[in-house]
Amino acid sequence: MGSRQEDAASLEPQRFPIAILASGTGSNLAAILEAAEADEFAAEVVVVISDRTDAGALDIARAARIPTSVLSGSRKRQALTTAICDEAEHYGARALVLAGFMRILGPEAVVRFPDAILNTHPSLLPSFPGMHGVRQALEHGAKLAGCTVHFIDEEVDTGPIIAQEAVAVLASDTEDALHARIKAVEHRLYPQVVDAFARGRLVVQDRVVRWLDEVDATIAEGVGR
Ligand code: GRF
Repeated sequence: MGSRQEDAASLEPQRFPIAILASGTGSNLAAILEAAEADEFAAEVVVVISDRTDAGALDIARAARIPTSVLSGSRKRQALTTAICDEAEHYGARALVLAGFMRILGPEAVVRFPDAILNTHPSLLPSFPGMHGVRQALEHGAKLAGCTVHFIDEEVDTGPIIAQEAVAVLASDTEDALHARIKAVEHRLYPQVVDAFARGRLVVQDRVVRWLDEVDATIAEGVGR
């Protein structure tokens, strides 16, 4: 017979297991972990995977006692993709959540995690995809920048858009200042999207993402992931 503590644990609702992929400072990881402190948050970070030993995200994960894994960034794309998918599955992850991950995943990832790879990008896609979205918005004289949370498909920054929010560009903006305001929005938006995804509320049809309300999501359990 199990102990009282084990019985209580078995009554806790199962959270949807996700792997976070991060190369940088990890402020989006921190935002997701903070959101996950709430009982009602539907996802659980089971592992943080990085391609860089010096990623600040690893320190954040360790402080939160979450398993970390560094997979050599010198591997070629296909080998790195296989290793990431294997590692995520090893920890039971059912989705990959990219939070400042600077490597491009190969097509195998989309096959192994169909409609289950999320990314946040610091521009209003389809404008300014790629590495320097914030800088390009400034150079282009855009009056609105922002962030886009989207599913990953076979190309770079082209997948179905889940959520977007605009940030006004100020005449005095530097790349760092604008990026900081965009990140502040990401820190609110990305955890909301991860939670909605984990609840099965995001359905992709003909590359358009529909948000189900909570009741529909319960009925349509499993749809969209
Ligand atoms: C974010 O702005 C995200 O949009 C981009 O990389 C940045 C990651 O920042 N893909 P952090 O490492 O989460 O602080």
